[in-house]
Amino acid sequence: MQPLPGFRDFYPEDCAFRRWIIDSWRLWAHRYGFVEYDGPPLEPLELYKKKSGDELVGQLYHFVDKGDREVALRAEMTPTLARMVSARHRDFRKPLKWFSVPQVFRYERSQKGRLREHFQLNCDLIGEQGLDADIELISLCLDILRGLGLQADDIVVRLSDRQFWVDFLRAQSVPEDQWYMVFQAIDKSEREPEEKTRERLGALADPVLQVLRGGATSERLDYVMKGLAARGLAEFAQVDFRIVRGLAYYTGVVFEVFDRKGEFRAIAGGGRYDDLLEKLGQESLPAVGFGMGDVVLGELLKARGLAPKIKDHLQAFVVLAEEAHRLAASGIVQQLRQAGLSVDYPLAETKMKKQFESAEHRGARFIVIVDSKFAEGLVHLKELSTREQIEVPVTELLSTLQAKFKG
Ligand code: HAM
Repeated sequence: MQPLPGFRDFYPEDCAFRRWIIDSWRLWAHRYGFVEYDGPPLEPLELYKKKSGDELVGQLYHFVDKGDREVALRAEMTPTLARMVSARHRDFRKPLKWFSVPQVFRYERSQKGRLREHFQLNCDLIGEQGLDADIELISLCLDILRGLGLQADDIVVRLSDRQFWVDFLRAQSVPEDQWYMVFQAIDKSEREPEEKTRERLGALADPVLQVLRGGATSERLDYVMKGLAARGLAEFAQVDFRIVRGLAYYTGVVFEVFDRKGEFRAIAGGGRYDDLLEKLGQESLPAVGFGMGDVVLGELLKARGLAPKIKDHLQAFVVLAEEAHRLAASGIVQQLRQAGLSVDYPLAETKMKKQFESAEHRGARFIVIVDSKFAEGLVHLKELSTREQIEVPVTELLSTLQAKFKG
């Protein structure tokens, strides 16, 4: 039986790769002063209906639970974060810098870079209105990717301004219920022939296309570009009014990160959403954030040869030469594990050759051999890479190993 379409089995090497990515997310989030939070993987359906917008609602995994509640698997973190912050925001000093790594679920058409579940780093800065917060977030997003080995010729952050488009649509007297349709046409304009875009936009085609061809400016974007330049990140960024973002709640600067060759879908995306918390019944709390998934990022890192071969290594493997010492050997294993070393040993009688092979296969750095010398209180300690072997009193085994790991 296969996993469901769009869902993944994580074999140990896949888990190690995923952990490598997530460790790097956590490392950089901490470096930027973010603290971790989490929320429930199942939410009231209403939360997404109110907060996320039609596109995401169409992708929800939702059902009625046994208590007759309409519920949905978490499809993004932002509505949960908004609820959590509005419930207790007075308890926290602003601005909040919070991050989370939820697994999220969207019933999308499975394709390259798009699955029906993914892990998504979310970094959000709440309670700061100024554009320096936007710059801080975009820099964090870029620093994570640079930390994983991606350079300015691999990736680009494309910056746009939702507020610019809102002002534009108001100036053109476009009714609010048609904005989503216009945003969709702008979003699709990159992948569709101009004729199709013109058809979608009707009378708005000329003024919109003029903006998309570079005939517009935004002070907000100018400031953000300067801020990124001051941090040495200018070569990673470009203004591009085609970025509008699918989610309903954005209000200001928005951005998406892409690979330069255009082979993959967006690696990360986010922006400012100053009204979302207020809509949850709270006083106004400005916010800006982004999400970065593990799927596109993983594929890109593999395609660029940046994915390390990661294997979980044992520090020591205890080889049992004589079954008579099995219990004593298990005591040694226990002592080493309690001291913090990762150690394994054969759980049933096994030929010596097989035990040595296991130790090699598991990547153990040392082998501890328990044989007839054990009666004299001695074991052999062998370093696999050098093949160097010494005799050590059992009582000094731990300190000898610790010294070698330090050295
Ligand atoms: P989003 O653009 O929908 O934003 O998702 C962010 C990132 O998650 C995408 O750039 C992509 O890497 C990944 N992603 C999204 N859907 C899928 C999928 N079906 N399969 C694999 N990866 C996917 C949000 O979700 C916003 N809530 C982000 C945010 C946080 N905005 C403010 N704060």
